[in-house]
Amino acid sequence: MKIYFADEKKIDPDVIRGMEKAAGLAVTKEGLDPERCELSVSFVSDRKIKKLNAEYRGVDKVTDVLSFPQYDDLNELTEEMEICLGDVVICEKKARQQAVEFGHSYEREILYLFTHSVLHLLGYDHEEEADKQEMRAREEEIMNELGLPQPGGEVAKTAGEEPETAGEAPEEEYCTDRDLYQIAREALKNAYAPFSKYQVGAALLAKDGRIFTGCNVENSTYGATICAERTACVKAVSEGCREFEALAVAIEGGTATPCGICRQFLYEFAPDLRVITGPDEDHLKSGPLYELLPEGFRL
Ligand code: THU
Repeated sequence: MKIYFADEKKIDPDVIRGMEKAAGLAVTKEGLDPERCELSVSFVSDRKIKKLNAEYRGVDKVTDVLSFPQYDDLNELTEEMEICLGDVVICEKKARQQAVEFGHSYEREILYLFTHSVLHLLGYDHEEEADKQEMRAREEEIMNELGLPQPGGEVAKTAGEEPETAGEAPEEEYCTDRDLYQIAREALKNAYAPFSKYQVGAALLAKDGRIFTGCNVENSTYGATICAERTACVKAVSEGCREFEALAVAIEGGTATPCGICRQFLYEFAPDLRVITGPDEDHLKSGPLYELLPEGFRL
């Protein structure tokens, strides 16, 4: 079974092996020869999958996985043909969020979404209850054979395409720049800034969807002061979270951008962090951290 990865993303070799096994099982169970089959997989951002979802399905929402089958009917296949089943598109961020919500590993979530999507490429769907049950049963079979059974026989959740009809998938939690900025604005209310009287709030969006807020915390020995951005970052790291997507910074009546120390501090974890600043939510600008800190230091 040949799987093409559509981008340069570094994928854990164990996950790749899991995907090959899952796809191999799925096609074999349909009576197809895995040696003749291939498919492509890409990992995309929430923005990208939202765009694809709107474009191809008319649903302007982030989703976890989209499937683009090559064949309407696998009976069209002839004996000699190489079988290119189609494309699987997985939203990495959504997968991370769901892994946290369902209390299992990111790798497990990826393998589940992938299996679900490969079944779509093979013609399965979950529009009608009977079809849904059939698809679920096959998913469960494959996950069991991968050594990843559903904990406690819990009913498999619905991946991807129809979260609104299935009612089992988590609610959409797409965080816009505006949302993140408003959260930063709220956070500044907790600032402890008796010396400068300059209150700063920060909101740091992690790749798994969590948001960590921070405010500046000053000290009588002025140098011990901690900025809002570092407060948020330290809160995240101390909760085991180190992968970040965006940071919003807010003050009352003006624009604040992270100071030099904060830029370097954040650079350690996320050189391409999107930094969002502005005087209010209608006038935001954003750019990558590496532009705010050219040639940032990393060991
Ligand atoms: N401050 C921040 O919280 N973030 C920045 O990026 C700039 C400065 C705080 C530190 C101090 O409490 C106050 O603003 C004045 O420097």
